[in-house]
Amino acid sequence: MESGFPAAVFTLLGELPKETWCGSDLYNLEGFWYASSLLPAIMAARSNFRANDCDVFLTSSMKTGTTWLKAIIPTIMNPVGRTNDDGHDPLLKHHPNELMPSLEVQLFKENPNPDLSDMPCPRLFRTHVPYHMLPETVKNSACKIVYITRDPKDTFVSLWHFFNSLVTAVGNDPWPMNEAFESFCRGVHVFGPFHDHVLGYWKESIKRPEKILFLRYEDMKKDPKEQLRKLACFLGRPFEKEEEVDKVLWRCSLERLKHLEVNQRGVDPWLGFDYKFYFRRGSVGDWKNNITDEMKEKLDRVTATKFEGSGLEFGH
Ligand code: A3P
Repeated sequence: MESGFPAAVFTLLGELPKETWCGSDLYNLEGFWYASSLLPAIMAARSNFRANDCDVFLTSSMKTGTTWLKAIIPTIMNPVGRTNDDGHDPLLKHHPNELMPSLEVQLFKENPNPDLSDMPCPRLFRTHVPYHMLPETVKNSACKIVYITRDPKDTFVSLWHFFNSLVTAVGNDPWPMNEAFESFCRGVHVFGPFHDHVLGYWKESIKRPEKILFLRYEDMKKDPKEQLRKLACFLGRPFEKEEEVDKVLWRCSLERLKHLEVNQRGVDPWLGFDYKFYFRRGSVGDWKNNITDEMKEKLDRVTATKFEGSGLEFGH
């Protein structure tokens, strides 16, 4: 047993519904699926994390464009991020994962009570947990939450490519896409069900737009400048000049990040994943190249049923 985590957490694991997904065990807690390796950290963060009003949280389901935002938010918040001082751009030496630490993958992974008191304000964090699993102080303090989501079909395709790359990179058989697809439609995938994840943040963002900014990958691709201006205002760092918007967009662009040495050769020390797998095509509608008409129709039906009456639509 890992030191520091209450024994009850490990007892609980044995009692939760379990499914095998992409060769690993996922456990269902309060309606969502989690990897056993992250669940103790998720529960510890929920109980022990204390938010500051200056904190910024990036939240998302997986493969919705989080890495783009993990680059953009620190660049907006960092005073040199929008200047011409390219030589001091942290992205030159750090994958975006290192600029916005994850509660479950990094900070609480080994220690249920990490000392975060020496992190300078504004503290930038990320998490993939659904809204209801956020620590209470994140929900109730004045800290800001940015949520990014994406068309479910493109999310699924990106998720399959990512995990398929991981399993094949270590010499395992490819992950059958049909199997991955059926699981996704049932909501069984890491941090799933996707649709419930989106709905949780969507509903809360409608109630409290000053607290939660709800972004879509497709809008970011269609009008990145407008979305960036909105994000910077939300974070209390509005742009003063057009060149600043251009600078942040260029620094965080897929083409630039993908070709940086750190992202081509680096390995995530917490997960063991090659950083290169976080950057793929980054296009809208890539599902058209990957799934059949039948699969499209099935997932569209799930989406229509789940989002009915919510005002949420994805038409790509
Ligand atoms: P594709 O697999 O469709 O290419 P996440 O960051 O949440 O894991 O999402 C991964 C998706 O975001 C991948 O989509 C990836 O290519 C895309 N992505 C990563 N960095 C990006 C960036 N800087 N700009 C736009 N898209 C990016």
